[in-house]
Amino acid sequence: MVDPSVPESVRLADVAEPTPDADGVLVEVRHAALNHGDLNDARSGRVPAGAVLGSDAAGVVLRSGPAGPPSGTRVVALAAGAFAEQVIVSSGSLAEVPATVDLARAAALPVAGVAALRALRACGTLLGRRVLITGASGGVGRFAVRLASIAGAHVIASVGRQGRGAGLEELGADEVVVGLDGIDVPVDAVVDNVGGPQLVAAWQLLASGGTIQSIGWTSGEPAVFSPYSTIGPPKSLTSFLIEGPVADALADLVRLVESGALPVEIGWQGPLDRFHDAADALRGRRINGKAVLVVADAAHRS
Ligand SMILES: NC(=O)c1ccc[n+]([C@@H]2O[C@H](COP(=O)([O-])OP(=O)(O)OC[C@H]3O[C@@H](n4cnc5c(N)ncnc54)[C@H](OP(=O)(O)O)[C@@H]3O)[C@@H](O)[C@H]2O)c1
Repeated sequence: MVDPSVPESVRLADVAEPTPDADGVLVEVRHAALNHGDLNDARSGRVPAGAVLGSDAAGVVLRSGPAGPPSGTRVVALAAGAFAEQVIVSSGSLAEVPATVDLARAAALPVAGVAALRALRACGTLLGRRVLITGASGGVGRFAVRLASIAGAHVIASVGRQGRGAGLEELGADEVVVGLDGIDVPVDAVVDNVGGPQLVAAWQLLASGGTIQSIGWTSGEPAVFSPYSTIGPPKSLTSFLIEGPVADALADLVRLVESGALPVEIGWQGPLDRFHDAADALRGRRINGKAVLVVADAAHRS
């Protein structure tokens, strides 16, 4: 739960079991993925003190209303309070997970996968287009590289330093660059996870008619546009937020995973009580792909 008085503003605690209303689906969480946004949410107060943190859950339905999936169904969900043994999910925020898809991998999909999928869809047709993904080594970035490649784009993956690009060519990146300095041909679309000076540099690289989807701001640095840099042929910078029902997007992602088209890379996996190790590794930029917490194991030990 969120506690501003402790490191990362998160600690383990016993909380009351959630009680679903008529439309809610009660899920026993087996795995939960940790997102950069979860850490920000705890520290910024967006998730208030005393509330359970977490957004990405995969597990098994315990109970649901008439419109929800029957108990025993394996599901993945975008779920506020995912870092708990049980969570309530709206039926518009979950998708069924077939037996062939591991729940740990499914848990990695909601925030990072849906963000990558929706941001790329918002860029329009990608076939043959040059698409730049910044922060490509991270959770959103790796999904975006793969999904853009599946869509037929020429994918340029930008990472923070040498070595962070490991595995990106295998995912479909046509070019892997450190920062943006090595790019000298304009790009048609940008999925930006980093913000700051890289966002400004990406704007300068953007071709006429192109778009930047501003998903995240991991750099934490300001973006300073020099005078007149926004004057010229039309191109756009669009803010991005996951909003509304995500069930369809989640179902699309699960299908892609099931078919083998979308690998889910788990760079860190461990029990819920090692949350701080996962958070350290994520902040320290040492995870290639997603960090996944094993919730059920932690529950069974206590
Ligand atoms: N708007 C939304 O709805 C939405 C949804 C999902 C995610 N997000 C946001 O999107 C961003 C990425 O999320 P994520 O889950 O992919 O995070 P992540 O797994 O922690 O990956 C972050 C990436 O950013 C890069 N990075 C970190 N600090 C940097 C710095 N100071 N300068 C340059 N690059 C830096 C890292 O690259 P290297 O390790 O290669 O250096 C890493 O690949 C976060 O800001 C997150 O909050 C927003």
